[in-house]
Amino acid sequence: MYIRSGELVIISSIKDTVRGYLKSLRARIFVIVLLVGLIPIFLMKNLILDNYADQAVEQKSALIQSQCQQIVDQVASSGYIWNRTEATEQVDRQLVQLGSIYNGRVIIVNSNFRIIRDTFGIDEDKVIISEEVLQCFLGTDSTNYNQDFEFLELTLPVRDAQTRDIEGIMIVSVSTQDVRDGKDTLGNTVLILQVVLTLLIIAAAYYVARVLTKPFGKITRSLEEVRGGVTEQEISIPDYTETKLLSEAYNRMLNRMKVQEDSRQQFVSNVSHELKTPITSMKVLADSLLAQDDVPNELYREFMADIAEEIDRENKIISDLLSLVKMDRRSSDVNIQETNINQLIELILKRLRPIAARQEVELVLESFKPVTAEVDETKLTLALSNLVENGIKYNRPQGWVHVSLNVDSKYFYVKVEDSGIGIPEEDQEHIFERFYRVDKSHSREIGGTGLGLAITRSAVLMHHGAIKVYSKEGEGTTFTVRIPLKYVP
Ligand SMILES: Nc1ncnc2c1ncn2[C@@H]1O[C@H](COP(=O)(O)OP(=O)(O)O)[C@@H](O)[C@H]1O
Ligand SMILES: [Mg+2]
Repeated sequence: MYIRSGELVIISSIKDTVRGYLKSLRARIFVIVLLVGLIPIFLMKNLILDNYADQAVEQKSALIQSQCQQIVDQVASSGYIWNRTEATEQVDRQLVQLGSIYNGRVIIVNSNFRIIRDTFGIDEDKVIISEEVLQCFLGTDSTNYNQDFEFLELTLPVRDAQTRDIEGIMIVSVSTQDVRDGKDTLGNTVLILQVVLTLLIIAAAYYVARVLTKPFGKITRSLEEVRGGVTEQEISIPDYTETKLLSEAYNRMLNRMKVQEDSRQQFVSNVSHELKTPITSMKVLADSLLAQDDVPNELYREFMADIAEEIDRENKIISDLLSLVKMDRRSSDVNIQETNINQLIELILKRLRPIAARQEVELVLESFKPVTAEVDETKLTLALSNLVENGIKYNRPQGWVHVSLNVDSKYFYVKVEDSGIGIPEEDQEHIFERFYRVDKSHSREIGGTGLGLAITRSAVLMHHGAIKVYSKEGEGTTFTVRIPLKYVP
C-alpha cells in the first residue's frame, strides 16, 4: 500500500474536482447542442408557413387573373358597359358565377367611376374613386393582397376590342380564407414535426454530452477505485489530450509515492539492522562469558571492553540518526545566526587534531579571507566535521587533509581534500545515501555508521547550498561545499 491517508484526501479532492468539472462540462455540452439544434427548428416554422402562404396567394391570384382576363374580354366584346342585351345577361351570369366560385365579389365600373354592377348588389350606382381605380384607368392593373382582412383584390381594365380604349374597370375581390385554412393545417403538421424533432434533439444532446465526457468519467472512476483501496494501478485514459495529461500527472504522482515509500521502508529496515548489529555482538560476548565457569579475570576485562565498544557504537548510530532526523525536519528548528566561518572551521580542526595525530595524518587549514555568513552553527559544524573526519579516517599513514575556505560576493566555499584511499567511480553517486558505505568491513573497522555524508548533505541543502565530490581510487578525495552568505528561508 503506497498511498497513505493524507494522500487519499488529496486524491479524493482531485476526484471531486474532476467530477464537478465533468458535471458542468456535460451540462454545457447539452445546452449547446440543444440550442444549436432547436433554434433552426423554431425558426423553420415561420419560414415554412410564410413561404407557403406567399406561394398559395400567388398561385391563386394567377389563376383568378387568367379567368378574369377571359371574362373581362367578354365584358368588353358584349358591350356590357353600355347597355344590357341578351349577350350581356350571359356575361352577367358568368360574373355571378365567378364571384360564387371564389366566394368573392365582382364589381364593374364605367368610365364615369359609377358602379354599374356589383354581384353583392350593395354598391350599385355609387361612385368609386380609389387609388387602384384611378391607376387602372391610366392603364396599370393591380393585384392587392390584404393579409389582415384576408382577401385578394384584382383590378382589370375593360378595353374596347378594336380601339383598346379603356371603357371601364372590373374589380374582383376574393376571400383568401382557404389560404389561411391551408396555413393552419400545415402549421399543425409542422408543430408535430417540431415536437418530434425537439425530442430527438434532446436525446441527441444528452447522448453527445455523455459520449464526449466519458473519458472524464473514467478518470473519476479510476480515482474512486484508488480511494476505495481496490487498486494502486496506473491509470491510462488516452482519449483526449487533457485526460492523457491528467492521467500521466496522476501516474507520475503515484510513482513518486512508490519511490518514496520504498526508500522509507528501506530506511526503516536499514535502521533496524544497524541497531541490531551491536546488540547481537554484545549478546554473543555476554553469552560466551556466562557459558564458562571460572573465567579468568583478564578474559572478563577483555570481553567487557569489547562490550563497551559495542555500546559506544550503538550510541554513535543513535546520535547520528537523531542528527539526521533533526536535519530532515523543516525550518522549524533552524537556528540561523551571523557566524564567523573562519573561527567555526578552526574549532572543528582543533577538535579533530588528536584523531588526526593518532592516524598520523597532517591537518592543514588555508583560509584566504575572513568570512561571516548567516548559518546554523551547530548543523554546519556537524556537516563539515563529517567531511574532515572522513578525510582523516579514509586516509593512509603520513597522509594529509587540506581544508580551505574561500568566498565571493554571494557564497563561501569550503574544500576538503585528502590523500586517502579514494572512492571508486561507481560508488560516488551513492555515498550520500543513508547507511551507504563503500567497503562495509573496512568501514566498520574504522567505526563508521554510513550516516555521516547523508547528514552533511541534508545540512548543506538546508542552507540552500551545494556539495560535490571528486575522487580517484588510491589517490585521494576532494569534497567541495558551497553555501550562500545570506540565508534564505
Ligand atoms: N574522504 C573519503 N575517502 C574515501 N572514502 C570516503 C571518504 N568519505 C566517505 N567515503 C566513503 O563513503 C562512505 C560513506 O561515508 P559516511 O556517510 O561519512 O559514512 P561513514 O560513517 O562510513 O564514514 C564511507 O563509508 C566511505 O566508504
Ligand atoms: Mg563519515
